[in-house]
Amino acid sequence: MTERPVLVFDSGIGGLTVLREARVLMPGRHFVYVADDAGFPYGAWEEAALQQRIVELFGRLIEEHDPEIAVIACNTASTLVLDALRVAFPDTPFVGTVPAIKPAAERTRSGLVSVLATPGTVKRQYTRDLITQWASKCHVRLVGSDNLAGLAEIYMRQGFVDEEAVRAEIAPCFVEREGKRTDIVVLACTHYPFLVNRMRKTAPWPVDWLDPAEAIARRALSLLPASHASQIAQSADRAVFTSGAPDFPTRRLMQGFGLQVA
Ligand code: DGL
Repeated sequence: MTERPVLVFDSGIGGLTVLREARVLMPGRHFVYVADDAGFPYGAWEEAALQQRIVELFGRLIEEHDPEIAVIACNTASTLVLDALRVAFPDTPFVGTVPAIKPAAERTRSGLVSVLATPGTVKRQYTRDLITQWASKCHVRLVGSDNLAGLAEIYMRQGFVDEEAVRAEIAPCFVEREGKRTDIVVLACTHYPFLVNRMRKTAPWPVDWLDPAEAIARRALSLLPASHASQIAQSADRAVFTSGAPDFPTRRLMQGFGLQVA
């Protein structure tokens, strides 16, 4: 039997936060992790150009890997290209990652919620529509960060992060209004959970940091047939980098995640 993989996609290493949850839920599955590192960071791309890039890239990825399902483990991409991908590749089920605004609106006590994301995700109409649809009773602050995804990339490869830079990037998330304070920060970029301990450390007060990775993995699981439930994956999971040239720290990181660099 040819094993069709679950393809997990991001601009960089952020999608690994989703991959690790997906593996726990689907130990019988074979995974291919794709990082479009040649296009990283997605946050600053012009929308039409980014959309075209990702749809073209998926044409090649689907042909090469024939995934049973594709998980777009990137908010910046999902909020822009999910519909276009579904239209272009109707035979492939796609699971997206979009800002967890609905669960945040359901859980907040103070009514003050912040969404921390790339500048691209913050300016998307998709994100604005989520707020109108699910959080109209809350005060939602959108915080676009130019640097956090890059800081997470460095941290995961080199083990170093500039805490003052993290403090500065998250500071606008913390709002005080009429005696109330922000109590939930939505991590709306898959890179950010890697930095959550530093965020906790540098935050002016404790908040709930909402990471949607497990929910995304559960959604992917729900769309797959249960046929692999009693199996253990036979072939090694792989990582593909669109640059074709991941450096040594990147290869080492992938090894740490049990991924063979293709
Ligand atoms: N990990 C991506 C996301 O979830 C974005 C990182 C980037 O390319 O800037 O939005």
